[in-house]
Amino acid sequence: MTAETDLKLHIEKRPESKLPQVDFSKLVFGQVFTDHMFLADYKNNKWEEPKIIPYQALAYEPSAKVFHYGQAVFEGMKAYKDKDGNVFLFRPEENFERINRSAQRLGMPPIPKEYFMEGLKQLVKLDKEWIPTGEGESLYLRPVYIAIENAVAASPSTDYRFMIIASPAGKYYVGDVKVKIEDKYSRACDGGVGFAKAAGNYAAQFYPTELAKEEGFQQIIWTDSKEHKYLEEAGTMNMFFRLGDTLVTAPTDSSRILPGITRKSIIQLAEDNGVKVEVRPVTVEEVIEGAKNGNLKEIFGAGTAATVLPIRGVKYKDFYSDLPQLEDSYADRFKKLLMDIQYNKTEDPYGWRYPVK
Ligand code: COI
Repeated sequence: MTAETDLKLHIEKRPESKLPQVDFSKLVFGQVFTDHMFLADYKNNKWEEPKIIPYQALAYEPSAKVFHYGQAVFEGMKAYKDKDGNVFLFRPEENFERINRSAQRLGMPPIPKEYFMEGLKQLVKLDKEWIPTGEGESLYLRPVYIAIENAVAASPSTDYRFMIIASPAGKYYVGDVKVKIEDKYSRACDGGVGFAKAAGNYAAQFYPTELAKEEGFQQIIWTDSKEHKYLEEAGTMNMFFRLGDTLVTAPTDSSRILPGITRKSIIQLAEDNGVKVEVRPVTVEEVIEGAKNGNLKEIFGAGTAATVLPIRGVKYKDFYSDLPQLEDSYADRFKKLLMDIQYNKTEDPYGWRYPVK
């Protein structure tokens, strides 16, 4: 079947849904994909007409530039269903702006806003039945933008493909998460690509994270590459530290840290709920001192996939400390406030919910 929107978005529906084959009680993050995908190509200096097609394997020549130079950026977003079946995105224009900032840094042409927004909307509408409705479940959306010119010269591609795929998702992290503060490897440097959602930023973390896992730590908190003195982000999450009753988080104006949309929302919620927030460089020393003298009340991560994740223990060099599990933790408080907005359980004074109709 083919349909058209104002954007001339061709929609080719899958003849039969794969939905009956999926066991929604056993969802593992990011392993099952919905019936459809969005796809738009950029060639000859212009964007071609976008389309939605059945989710499928696509053929690429081995010379495609994305394989050689990692010219690829992506986004992470979610669609939420409320108890009446209404569907919402969360601050999608922020993701749109961020993917184009990432794209610019990697020398890629900007994605037109209507492709991004209409692509998301139409895909979510079409695969609405795939949005799981269990506690904390949602449809994870992955816009991804890659270089597909078949040429191995180390220069920006002439051809690109922008796609959006979707995956019904539950928790990203299962079980307790303990973190290691990294003092050898680095994720990002000044003037680099740390602020961008560049694919290579994630690959570069895999090896040090595997080493941390061997020691019993699921994630790394990265530190600045010059002195390993300041805490940055954890790769899949921005980090918050509760020192006394103040919530402290690193600034994202350095070019090294991803400006997370969940991070930004938590800062706003905390400030509007009477919690003092300090956005400033956070030293390893003050956090470890706090772990020793009790001033460090909690650490939590914030990200789209992870939502808000309390950290259960922290290691730095030879020092390790469990973190207390508080009755009224900031992590639980702000997670609830955030999710109540995302799942349409409360008023949305900020206009963050974006209905998909
Ligand atoms: C997200 O939180 O959506 C991310 O993109 C991080 C990740 C799963 C790699």
